[in-house]
Amino acid sequence: NGKKWLATLALTVGVGLLVSACGSGGQQASGGGSGSAAGDSKVYVVGTDAAYPPFEKMEADKITGFDIDVVQAVADAAGIKIEVKNTGWDPLFDGIDKGNVDLGISAVTITDERKQKYDFSDPYFEANQLILLPEDSTVAKLADLKGKKIGVQSATTGEQVVKKAFGDTYEGIKGYDDTPSAVDDFFIGRVDAVVADNAVLQDYAKKMKDKKFKLIKDDSFEVEHYGIIVKKGNADLLNKINQGMKTIKENGKLKEINDKYFGQ
Ligand code: ARG
Repeated sequence: NGKKWLATLALTVGVGLLVSACGSGGQQASGGGSGSAAGDSKVYVVGTDAAYPPFEKMEADKITGFDIDVVQAVADAAGIKIEVKNTGWDPLFDGIDKGNVDLGISAVTITDERKQKYDFSDPYFEANQLILLPEDSTVAKLADLKGKKIGVQSATTGEQVVKKAFGDTYEGIKGYDDTPSAVDDFFIGRVDAVVADNAVLQDYAKKMKDKKFKLIKDDSFEVEHYGIIVKKGNADLLNKINQGMKTIKENGKLKEINDKYFGQ
């Protein structure tokens, strides 16, 4: 706990006082800054599904994680103010559609389908899907799960790869609003496997050393890249984000955040 406090303190000092604004799920007015014409005084609302450690999670009433550090560093480098809200996954996209969320960071994979509806920043993280299985499972590839129950977070790339393999109407697929619920169901035997992002499942593996399970990769799983999303056509905000992203890639800040969460 002492360590946690230290980390929190270091983070606060490190990224500046703005971070104090990203407190709880936040009931503050959205569409912030509308009272002023000066672009820089606007507070941009960032949406995230804070149930996806190590990328985003609730820690007491604070939202923390890799993505939160990244978006704060990007905002600092771009000279914009942000407020992070725990919107959940589907409402994040709805919020951007409706305009009460300005940008989203939530380990969102850049896909062609999503690019039709949203604009993505330059990528900031590389990922792929993995399959979570009981340690003694004979399943060696995705196809071996045919007929079995597979847990996924709904409307994610994990769901996509399962549907691609078994069809859109596969009855074995069980969709959850968030990934921890799928993993919980796996550990009590309600689903035979979970398909989700590698770093998230690996984070579970680290934390649940006492449980017997394994992670495997299927050859069909492609390389994915995470990006920050904005409403389609919001070029002004996207340019600021990309400029900030470029800066933190060049000045080592992104690597520093990477090392903090994933080691060298
Ligand atoms: N990378 C996957 C996708 O974009 C899963 C992301 C889920 N993120 C979250 N915070 N729940 O579909």
